[in-house]
Amino acid sequence: MKVTKAIIPAAGLGTRVLPASKSIPKEMLPIVDKPAIQYIVEECVRAGITDILIITNRGKSAMEDHFDRSPELEERLLASGKQDLYDEVVGVSRLANIQYIRQKETKGLGHAVSCAKSFVGGEPFAVLYGDDVIIGEDPAIGQLCRAYEEFGLGCVGIKEVTPEQILKYSSMKVEPIRDNLLKVTDMNEKPKPHEILSLYSILGRCVLPAKIFDILENTKPGAGGEIQLTDAMLQLARSEGMIGVDYTGTRYDMGNKLGMMQAAIEVGLAHPEIGADLREYLKKLAKTL
Ligand code: UTP
Repeated sequence: MKVTKAIIPAAGLGTRVLPASKSIPKEMLPIVDKPAIQYIVEECVRAGITDILIITNRGKSAMEDHFDRSPELEERLLASGKQDLYDEVVGVSRLANIQYIRQKETKGLGHAVSCAKSFVGGEPFAVLYGDDVIIGEDPAIGQLCRAYEEFGLGCVGIKEVTPEQILKYSSMKVEPIRDNLLKVTDMNEKPKPHEILSLYSILGRCVLPAKIFDILENTKPGAGGEIQLTDAMLQLARSEGMIGVDYTGTRYDMGNKLGMMQAAIEVGLAHPEIGADLREYLKKLAKTL
């Protein structure tokens, strides 16, 4: 079954990037000249997804404004002959059919996903974490959608992380299938050292069957008192298995300060307008470090 719907949970409090995220949603923090969430919406569009639901909350309406038309700005750009910028600004509002819903209380990623139940209906759907930007030729979520279409099982985007990182992330029990595809048969969130199943962790993307909503309804708050999506997915993994896709592409964690800086530098280096100047600047700077 073709996956055409995606949800982007973006209702977190962003405490790790305070005070920047106090009045600006962390998903709106820019990487060079585009807010993080625009890269994520563009990834969906490139993967053939047509309908997107962004989960927001109070104080996050800047995201809705960003994907809306902006008549005053557009008029000014046209009047001053800035056709390229006009096309770009209008283009942002036409990327996809984007809807919004508020998560009224910040009760965790699992709870945020459950807010999308009526949007999703009975179809499989993609989840792109609002603070994980993945840059690559082949959109990461497209790689997961293809795996879903092939196996008919929930899919998680996985990557190997360091032994220190796995303690803060989720850990997957895996068996190889072929190439970058693995069968996931168990998982745990924020494992203690003796509970580590492998260094593979879910990073930023999954494609889930609609039955996850029934599971979420019966999922009790877990780590941090929040309803964890991983706790619901582990039931899927144990009952029918899930597919782990070790996706290609570079992931930037825009929910932490170092990740934001890495994204700005690497995307900046590849940017047609500022790439060459940034490279020269960094070379000079590196000599002084
Ligand atoms: P995080 O745990 O990274 O987001 O959730 P956070 O809570 O904003 O982070 P910190 O720890 O306070 O800095 C991953 C994704 O899930 C969303 C976040 O917006 C982020 O994109 N999320 C998280 C929700 O939509 N609702 C929640 O209740 C929690």
